[in-house]
Amino acid sequence: MKFSASFSSLLTLAVLASGAFARPAANAELREMQRRANAQALQSSTTLDPSVIQNVDDGQNPPTAGQTAAVVSQNNFINFCAQTLPATPLTNGLQLTTGSCNPTPIGLIPSSDKMPSGKFQNPKNGDTIPANQAFTITLAVKNIQLGDFTNAQQTYFANPQTLNAQGEIIGHTHFVIEAIDSLDSTTVTDPTQFTFFKGVDDAQDADGNVSVNVTAGVPAGTYRMGTIVAASTHQPAIVPIAQHGLLDDVVYFTASDSGAAAGGAGGNNAAAGGAAGNAGAGKGAAAATTAAASTATAAKGQAGKGQQGKGGQAAKGQQGKGGFGGKFGKGRPRF
Ligand SMILES: *[C@@H]1O[C@H](CO)[C@@H](O)[C@H](O)[C@H]1NC(C)=O
Ligand SMILES: *[C@@H]1O[C@H](CO)[C@@H](O)[C@H](O)[C@H]1NC(C)=O
Repeated sequence: MKFSASFSSLLTLAVLASGAFARPAANAELREMQRRANAQALQSSTTLDPSVIQNVDDGQNPPTAGQTAAVVSQNNFINFCAQTLPATPLTNGLQLTTGSCNPTPIGLIPSSDKMPSGKFQNPKNGDTIPANQAFTITLAVKNIQLGDFTNAQQTYFANPQTLNAQGEIIGHTHFVIEAIDSLDSTTVTDPTQFTFFKGVDDAQDADGNVSVNVTAGVPAGTYRMGTIVAASTHQPAIVPIAQHGLLDDVVYFTASDSGAAAGGAGGNNAAAGGAAGNAGAGKGAAAATTAAASTATAAKGQAGKGQQGKGGQAAKGQQGKGGFGGKFGKGRPRF
């Protein structure tokens, strides 16, 4: 809510409180206005309001073998980062490549029927496309309001996640393409390396699609392409339950000089032409995948080892994403 809006709410409140329009029906409205005015006033307070103190125990009542006790806080961990200062600076809106400690809360979490999901429409999994020729990436999405992003160089991870009136995360997605050895590669990738990266600026169209043109195409080779779905301030989308399908999509495709898949296995064709592509582009791994991995691991953690796994993996996911900061200077699009 903007200041002017809250100011006018206060004015209305004063008028109502004066008794000019006092009537029973106004009571509920009055209380709601008061609640909003209080909440608004708290946004500039530097102390923790009792109404928002989180009450979570260490999760070991009763103890579960193999499960780590969570740290308990009386104050929502508001001073958590004091423990690692000054060696670890506060997250400050910059993409701090050496790590940081973020005091910003996670914010609004959607309901489980509003978890974002997406599927690449083009290139599709298993496609073969002509090398070094423009192509369009198209992704169909649901349960997210795309096209909302803040300054990635000044406000990175600096706001809580927010939801729209439909209860969907407000944010944006990214497309990342990484060169891999072959379609059946088992080589663990390097998240600092990628062939193409683009933050998707647009909202989805009426069909739920967003598109990005890869104007230079990609060299002949084999590729993994993924999404990285994020809130407005770039943190990975957070959903309410540990066990869920991927919020991101991942597909594998081949780019070949002939523009056609080699008999049966596109991967073989890619392997032939792929050396140059791989050398130029490097092996990659995506924060999307890391983030996805964290989600998947969280699900596993819930089933087997408990919630602690979630924390560790989430931290890894964020680190991977921060690493992209180094690429920005090379004229890569916004992310
Ligand atoms: C847009 O998305 C729908 C499914 O949501 C799909 O059927 C359609 O082909 C997509 N359009 C393009 C251009 O990919
Ligand atoms: C991709 O390029 C085509 C042809 O130049 C253009 O019509 C289209 O708007 C572009 N799409 C995006 C998402 O930029």
